[in-house]
Amino acid sequence: MVRDDVLRALEQHRGTLVSGGTLARELGVSRTAIWKAIASLREMGFPIESISGEGYRLAESSDALSEAGIAMELKTNRMARSLCVLSTVNSTNTYLKERAASLPDGYAAVADCQTAGRGRLGRTFLSPSGSGVYISILLHPTLPLERVNMITVGAAVALCEAIQETAGFEPDIKWVNDVLKNGKKLCGILTEAAMEAETGQLSYAIVGVGINVRQPEGGLPEEIRDIAGCLEDFSPHPVRRNALVAAFFNHMETCLDLIVSGNTEALMNRYRSFIHFLGEPITVIRNGVREAATAVAINSSGHLIIEQNGQQSVMLAGEISIRLPEQIR
Ligand code: BTN
Repeated sequence: MVRDDVLRALEQHRGTLVSGGTLARELGVSRTAIWKAIASLREMGFPIESISGEGYRLAESSDALSEAGIAMELKTNRMARSLCVLSTVNSTNTYLKERAASLPDGYAAVADCQTAGRGRLGRTFLSPSGSGVYISILLHPTLPLERVNMITVGAAVALCEAIQETAGFEPDIKWVNDVLKNGKKLCGILTEAAMEAETGQLSYAIVGVGINVRQPEGGLPEEIRDIAGCLEDFSPHPVRRNALVAAFFNHMETCLDLIVSGNTEALMNRYRSFIHFLGEPITVIRNGVREAATAVAINSSGHLIIEQNGQQSVMLAGEISIRLPEQIR
């Protein structure tokens, strides 16, 4: 489509002027077709500047999400090789779930805004426009069911690595899979899977991540202001969402390859490098009861080993939640 090709060309020359004639020649279309494509892109919200007689450019500060902008930075073989970018959707996870049977492995849906973003435990996930990015990936991996929980581990690692690469700071993972900085939650992960009843095999998994990139207009709602944060609160520079999304896909592919090949120890080592509370006193909350413990290690299945009164025990995700000591938060 001419519009997508024009956007790709403008993304490639971001910040510099490209004449209508050059675009028309490079894309093998008429100048009128270029003009129409530019008008349509502007209508979609892309800030395209024009200087009469010189040409067009995508504003340097543009943070508009686009397939072209993501594809430019993608280094994957399968992950997100086909994707859609939606300005608004109810939920990217729901969108893929409804189309899971017909879409290929690695297909991704990326949205600027969700009207019914879903979180874990039936919670809603606030997803306003322009301030975050909401991503889901459809996976049809050949994976034993006991390794399915590793997909969420992989997503947490991929998010942390993508944040390091594009936002320039190192986040923390709070066991199990919360990505935080200074105790403020930056991202949420929701993995949903379906099993084939007859074979007991995984038929598909959808991993969805929501990333708070910058404060929404009017700031974060009062009720989450103390617990949630945004990448740009900690980043030394503005974060470009297309680059962040592509980096997430790039790292997610390598994490998934480790899971599928059974090399989960290598994945766990990457996971552990973002865990900063081992050896520290923590509070574990089991069935509503708070107990003091020391965090000892994360084992190769992703379970937390704690010590209480000289006794070690293994904590499974979903069984307990933890509170970190003040100096780590
Ligand atoms: C949580 O922290 O409770 C998990 C939040 C997961 C939110 C993401 S945003 C993209 C995908 N679509 C959804 O509806 N939810 C996930």
